[in-house]
Amino acid sequence: MKTVKFKLTRFAVIAIALGMSAGIQAKDNSLANFHSEMDGCETCHTKPRHVTDSETHENMQCKSCHGEYSDLANSELHFDPHTSHLGDINCTSCHKGHEAPKFQCNNCHSFEDDKMPFAEAKKKPKWDKGWDNEKIKKAIAAGPVETTDVVVIGAGSAGFNAAISAKRAGAKVILFEKAPYSGGNSMLAAGGINAVGTRQQKERGIEDKVEWYAEDAMKGGRYKNDPALVKILAEESASAVEWLESLGANMDGLKRSGGARVNRTHRPSGGHSVGPHIIDVLRKAAAKEQVDTRLNSKVVKLVLDNQDNNKVIGVVIHGKHSGHYMVAADSVVLATGGYGMNKEMIAYYRPTFKDMTSSNNVTATGDGILLAKEAGASMTDIDWVQAHPTIGKDSRILVSETVRGVGAIMVNVHGSRFINELTTRDRASDAILKQPEQWAWLVFDEQLISKKKMVRGYDHLGMLSKANSVEELAKITGMKNLPQTVSDYNKYKAQGKDEAFGRDLMPLSIEKGPFYAVRVQPGIHHTMGGVAINTESEVLNIQSRPMIGLYAAGEVTGGVHGFNRLGGNAIADTVIFGRRAGEHAAAHALKD
Ligand code: FUM
Repeated sequence: MKTVKFKLTRFAVIAIALGMSAGIQAKDNSLANFHSEMDGCETCHTKPRHVTDSETHENMQCKSCHGEYSDLANSELHFDPHTSHLGDINCTSCHKGHEAPKFQCNNCHSFEDDKMPFAEAKKKPKWDKGWDNEKIKKAIAAGPVETTDVVVIGAGSAGFNAAISAKRAGAKVILFEKAPYSGGNSMLAAGGINAVGTRQQKERGIEDKVEWYAEDAMKGGRYKNDPALVKILAEESASAVEWLESLGANMDGLKRSGGARVNRTHRPSGGHSVGPHIIDVLRKAAAKEQVDTRLNSKVVKLVLDNQDNNKVIGVVIHGKHSGHYMVAADSVVLATGGYGMNKEMIAYYRPTFKDMTSSNNVTATGDGILLAKEAGASMTDIDWVQAHPTIGKDSRILVSETVRGVGAIMVNVHGSRFINELTTRDRASDAILKQPEQWAWLVFDEQLISKKKMVRGYDHLGMLSKANSVEELAKITGMKNLPQTVSDYNKYKAQGKDEAFGRDLMPLSIEKGPFYAVRVQPGIHHTMGGVAINTESEVLNIQSRPMIGLYAAGEVTGGVHGFNRLGGNAIADTVIFGRRAGEHAAAHALKD
């Protein structure tokens, strides 16, 4: 993986300089010690001391002294973590009080992080390592310390949508997230949300039908999807976009994703990535609705009724500071995402992908699947794992399908096309893996870069090869056939017919320098299988009967996408089924 130098932020420089002048290195070079010598422990903590799992007070204290992220933005930096695509992920996610800092950006990137302030502080073991069955049993035996109507597990798009919907339906809701920040895998989504019959399609004169959306999803999923779930996905897609807009999202961009017959992938205008945008919107909406969101809080057990082991009555949480405790709930919604970052699960369910890179957030470890299995839930298509064809070579950075959707071509190491770039992901990935080198190039020109801001991000990360002419690009990359390939492609574009591979959408020619190329390879992107649900988002047990009080939505579930998910259908799934799960969970909790 390429290492990019991460420079010190102003905050880091000041903090280290102050630390040195205070002469604290000899004692304990931690952020906590530095602050305690400055103004005492209350610089960060409440008095009397009570640190919540979310570390809310501590984070507020950071900002009250150092300002908001925007105040810390430093335009002189090449990479500025305070203005990253992750938005506000909480200061204490990276800056640890009593231990060495953790540079969250390096979950995916490989910046040099040894210059972070207080990097010499002691490293401590992770607080949530492993399951502790004794502590779980004790928490259950002690009984619930709190009671709520609805518990939602996982604060990605599905979880936020479920929590906000349940809260709006009048339920008392607690949203638990194991990570120190919300967003889950959704915050990395680069594509958009598929929807049919929207204002955006109508404004552009695009004819689309609910039936076409459903047919495309079924065809993409090799007809292994649950048609009843797909019908809901298609029918409720337009209202999902309207819902996001009503919460403050900009969904005015529209593009085509692989496997779709028309442009129906809605995304923020201006080329920004969809995930960071909607997570920012959902975080704010949840705060506005006063959803009780608890970070650093891992749900480690679904508690079943002693008399009826098909009924969920609560959860056990392992909190970073509060330890193990039980919360009683009438309804529990699993919104924990997929297992694309769980190497053991991948090796077990899809051994041929076990050494593949993954585009997923580190949070995607399949926890909900394990919790549900242990509670007696049934699984659907659990071994279907999607390899996205275009992850940056030797990296974890997704090169979005959008890049092909708006005009890039995909070629082999010799510069020859080998597939319709807009075919479904499984086919595109297979085609790359059949190349002897098992990787490919995407090639495009300046027109595409000026249309899609996200591509500038790849440039910023040093992933792009760049040249003033196609011939020069061919020379520096070794793609000897590229000039002929580009000339043929431009001819197909001009005549409106791709004679080589039948690509029907060729929005841009490749003719305006500079010209760019980026190396790509398939990597794990989505786990299609998971917990079996019915149309009410109820989890099914191994006899296919609904488990009372247990709901699930998003990538933790199986059945919506069949054997292969289409681009733009993941966010649709999280919003549509997240909302449904939240509404049904609230209705169940509030009945009588
Ligand atoms: O390639 C992408 O932009 C991914 C989109 C998606 O997974 O839906």
